[in-house]
This record gives sequence, C-alpha cells and structure tokens, in this order.
Amino acid sequence: MTDTHWDRVPIDAQSVAAPLSRFAVFLVVSIGPGDAALAQARDVISGIDDLVKTVGFRDLNGRLSCVVGIGSSAWDRLSPGGRPVELHPFPVIRGGVHTAPSTPGDLLFHIRAERADLCFELERLTLDALGDAVTVVDEVNGFRYFDARDLLGFVDGTANPTGADLPGSALIGANDPGFTGCSYVVVQKYLHDLTSWNALSVDDQEAIIGRSKVENIERDSATEVRKSHKTLSTITDEAGTEYDILRDNMPFGSPGSREFGTYFIGYTGRLWVLEEMLRRMFVGDPEGSYDRMLDFSTAASGTTFFVPTNEILGALGVAGDGSQAPTPPDTATPPDRATPQDTATPPDTSDAARDSSLGIGSLRPRPLEGRQ
Ligand code: HEM
Repeated sequence: MTDTHWDRVPIDAQSVAAPLSRFAVFLVVSIGPGDAALAQARDVISGIDDLVKTVGFRDLNGRLSCVVGIGSSAWDRLSPGGRPVELHPFPVIRGGVHTAPSTPGDLLFHIRAERADLCFELERLTLDALGDAVTVVDEVNGFRYFDARDLLGFVDGTANPTGADLPGSALIGANDPGFTGCSYVVVQKYLHDLTSWNALSVDDQEAIIGRSKVENIERDSATEVRKSHKTLSTITDEAGTEYDILRDNMPFGSPGSREFGTYFIGYTGRLWVLEEMLRRMFVGDPEGSYDRMLDFSTAASGTTFFVPTNEILGALGVAGDGSQAPTPPDTATPPDRATPQDTATPPDTSDAARDSSLGIGSLRPRPLEGRQ
C-alpha cells in the first residue's frame, strides 16, 4: 500500500488506499452452501489480482482497483484456522427513532476506476467466474457528483486521513499480529428523502452536517446547540487523541424511480471506532440527540467485512478444503479497546445472531481507555 506502485502501474487489488475515483461499483454476494460453491469462491477471490490486471491494463489512466472484503461467517468457512480479533457481524444499532439494520453478505467487491466501463467489465468477469457459487445480494453503481458532493449537496470526504496518517487509521496495527496491514470495512446503503431535505433552509442543513454548503468550511463544534453529523462522528479519547476512519462514500440513484442515495463505505483498523461513530449517530450523544441527517436518510443495509492483504487473500487459494489456510499466530493481543460486543468470546456468527439486536442503544458510552 505504498504510493510508488501506483506511479509505476496504477492498477491494484486489495489497496485500501486506492485513489478516490469518479466511478465505483459496490457488489455484495452470498456464497452458496456446500464445498463446491466455497471452492469456487475461494478460487476467484484468491486470483482477483490477475483479473484486475486483465481489465485494468487496458487503460492505465483508468486506475482500476478492487478490494475484496470477506464477511464474518464466510471467513470462518474460508479460513477456519484463525480470525481477526475484532471480526464480527454488523450489529443492529437501535436508537430511539432510527435503526441501523444488519443485512447479509459474504463477499464485498469494492471496484473503483476513472471509467465506468472498467468497473463494469471487472464486475462482469468476476460474476462470470463465480457463476452459480454466489447469489447477488446488492449491487450499487456510484458516481462522483461535481466536486465530490453527496446528493444532500455537501462535499463529502474532506476530513479523511491522508498521507502518513492513512495507514494508522485504515489498517490493523501490531496488536493483531496475524493480520497487521489488513483492514475492516463497513458498508451501509442510505436512501435520502431529498424533497424534505431540500425544503430545509441552507442554514439548517449546515447545522445538521457541521460544514458550510458552498465553501465546505467546518463550523465550530463548541457553538452547536445540538451536535452535528461531523461532531457526532468525531471520536476522541480523554487524552485528546482523535480516531479517524477512511471513507469513500459515493452517490447513487435513479431520478426516474425517485431513488437518491449515498453508499457509505468506511475502512478502519479498529472496528470499534466505526461502531462508536454509528452508536453516536443512531443513539445520540447525549442519548436521544441523534444525528438529524437520519431524519432524511434511511439506512437500508449494513454489513461488516474483513479485508485481507493481497498476500493473505492469495494464500486462501492454496487451501483446497480450508485445512491449509493461513493460520495466524495465536498470540493476538486484545483490540486496543473493547468493542460493543465482548470480543474475548468468539462472536456468534449464526444468522440468528446477525439478525438480533445487540442492544447497543441501551449501552452507556464507556470511557475510551487502554488503546495504543
Ligand atoms: C447518508 C450517509 C452519510 C452522508 C451523506 C455523510 C456525509 C458527510 C459529510 C458531508 C461530512 C463532512 C465532510 C467530510 O469531512 O467528509 C461527513 C463527515 C464525516 N462522516 Fe459522514 N456521512 C454519512 C454517513 C456516515 C457514517 C455512517 C459514518 C460513520 C459510521 C460517517 C462518518 C463521518 C466522519 C468520521 C466524518 C468526518 C468528521 C470530522 O472529523 O470532521 N458518515 N459525512
């Protein structure tokens, strides 16, 4: 994940830090039951870097990239030898008014490029190769909207970490030695009620987002009557250390069917940070003072995936039946803070667990102690 390989050949697989693109495809699939489907999926994802080269080399200026994410239960099927310490299914987050649902998905393909046809072609070839081993759960075509705005009209992505700050935010650190350099990615599909949103004054919209609309200038959190989106999604510990995530949200939609949305995608090396952002947005801080953006934006999906490095992903292909899958050392220390789930016990990855609320809404915010 260095800059240099992008200069030499600007196409890549499993590069979380791939450049923000003009187009993206977000493809979520479920792997069928049985060994044959699993073997097929294993074969395709472990060779995804070749497929990315096959398509991406046809236009180097297109900067094609693809990140494969693997869901919690799919990871256990693909690599029963060991699991990243924070990996668990997306928890349902129930606030007093709004709920973040948890929806199924075994594999995520996050395809980015400067050309829509490159995204299309890689998705087509990938699905052809997967055949009937998978079922498509969701497919969203995202596009850049003017100066990187979402469909609410605000510039989206400004506070992302850049340069040297990026790996520390987006990649798993040394506290999980078997998976250092990997990442977690969370996706949520939001549908906007643009008619109601556009009926608000620009001043009200800016108070909800926490930035000015035209010039994208950050508003002072200290003067907010109720916390804005950007303030609720800022996670800071008692020492003043701020914990960022890497976002690559994209607008999507179909004016003909009155569908207007934002596909949220966030990469993080600390899954608890992203879940804490969601808790603050949906439950509120203080409890009840939820993110007012949610009055105009409904979360229609929510799924968490683990993103192995290209090396680990490639090694999954060696393990025909999973028995030789890469086994990380069992010396992993706990994550640098307890997640809303108790990660000391293996998470329940059953469908029942996935569908049931973890009752995060009833949890009190805990002090953010003990991290590196
Ligand atoms: C409908 C969905 C969403 C929209 C339209 C949206 C839009 C925005 C906008 C316009 C900003 C201000 C500019 C920027 O720094 O990017 C922002 C900031 C941010 N958002 Fe969102 N967002 C959405 C969902 C989420 C979710 C689900 C999370 C996390 C779980 C999140 C995390 C953040 C973070 C961390 C910031 C930067 C805060 C800061 O440090 O200033 N957003 N978002």
